[in-house]
Amino acid sequence: MSGHTTAQCASTSDEQETVLQNKYMKEAEVYVNKLSRQLGRRPLCCVTTFGCQMNARDSEKLLGILTRIGYVSTESEEEADFVIYNTCTVRDNANQRVYGRLGFLNSLKRKKPHLKIALCGCMMQEHSVIEKIRRSYRFVDLIFGTHNIFKFAQLLVAMFENQEMIIDIWQETDQIVEDLPVSRKYPYKSGINIMFGCNNFCSYCIVPYVRGRERSRDPKEIIREIEHLVADGVVEVMLLGQNVNSYGKNLEEPITFAQLLREVEQIEGLQRIRFMTSHPKDLSDELIEVMRQSTKICRHLHLPVQAGSDRILKAMNRRYTKDQYLALVDKIKTAMPDIAITTDIIVGFPGETLADVEETIDVVRRVQYDNAFTFIYSKRTGTPAAAMDNQVPEEVVREGFDKLLKVVQDTARERAARLQGQVMEALVEEVNEQDASLLTGRLSNNMLVHFPAGNIRIGQLVQVSLDTCHGFYYTGHVIEA
Ligand code: 5AD
Ligand code: SF4
Repeated sequence: MSGHTTAQCASTSDEQETVLQNKYMKEAEVYVNKLSRQLGRRPLCCVTTFGCQMNARDSEKLLGILTRIGYVSTESEEEADFVIYNTCTVRDNANQRVYGRLGFLNSLKRKKPHLKIALCGCMMQEHSVIEKIRRSYRFVDLIFGTHNIFKFAQLLVAMFENQEMIIDIWQETDQIVEDLPVSRKYPYKSGINIMFGCNNFCSYCIVPYVRGRERSRDPKEIIREIEHLVADGVVEVMLLGQNVNSYGKNLEEPITFAQLLREVEQIEGLQRIRFMTSHPKDLSDELIEVMRQSTKICRHLHLPVQAGSDRILKAMNRRYTKDQYLALVDKIKTAMPDIAITTDIIVGFPGETLADVEETIDVVRRVQYDNAFTFIYSKRTGTPAAAMDNQVPEEVVREGFDKLLKVVQDTARERAARLQGQVMEALVEEVNEQDASLLTGRLSNNMLVHFPAGNIRIGQLVQVSLDTCHGFYYTGHVIEA
């Protein structure tokens, strides 16, 4: 396994794999105990996450295994005896950040030779990245990818037993290994993977290449996991998938995402349900109806539009037109007038002109997004768009981007201001970072409100008056706990 890249060859069933990995956790624990004796304390581990909610959830799985085998978690890379970067590669700046920080880890390792360094996640699925790390970052101890994260305990044992760099990257997998330990970041809310991978192949996107084909988890496993979480104090879940609207299509007994939501809604004690991400081309009337009737599904829909020009949407392989997208939004808003809609937008896709960006701006004005994440197009090697010869000059991209951003911010501010003075339910998430006398709560529409703490505890649902809107958040006070 060391120093090479493997294709996957699964010989064990998913259940057997869980048993096997538990055995490796016991073995790894012996090494960690030995290290504890040498250090005279429990060793510290730091899991640093780049990228999306999927990665955040994967990091909770990594930390679950690390704490099970005896590490204590720290947020400080300087203090840690084991640092793992869970990487993202959706845009090139994510890769550059990792390379920059690896230089810093190298300096730490020089001062502390027993420091172990591991890299995993989407960036590691790129061949060129592995070559570069092998050549220029030889102090890294362990590298693995997105498909074999369930093998983490086994890979840790290999790392403890070898001096040379361990690399284990699979090109794909059909395995979904359940029941491994997870260490949640928040006691009261949790992400749940409902599916892995993506089949859409939007022409700019590297995700289908690094996360593989779409695979849905068995609904029974999902429900069981949520029931356990609720018994453990979770009141809000976020169902995670690259394209949740195509959930269940390929299961032996097919089920729709809307049907899954209906079942999740029945779970007693669960208060709030969120999900992401929805692809507009697959969003069904059934889903809108389930959301409308639901008392638990939050009034928020993240519906990436990416672009407003039909020509660009076609080149992006998004499989909807501007008018179809706008009609869908109309349908959703008619069914649920109080819904918050957010989106992702890319500026600077090959061939995009300023006139095309005007089409995107028109969509923003008409939809009135509550928030939009705007990205400058990043060329990802291996995607169809990277081979297109009409890449847009940087100044043109910048001009369109700045113009779009202003409209996005203005419309989001207007949307937020509308709710000032209303009373809404908030889930209390944390003590305010700037002012410890305040708590921060999240509204159903995903906006944040800060309010005096009083006797309120974290994880509680409270009714808050949104006294003042500050553009992208509110300050207020609790009406009813
Ligand atoms: N360049 C810029 N943004 C991208 N995204 C995905 N791929 C790229 C890329 N190559 C954005 C999309 C997606 C979000 C997660 O990241 O907007 O919805
Ligand atoms: Fe990428 Fe498109 Fe799949 Fe989203 S739906 S992960 S943008 S390929």
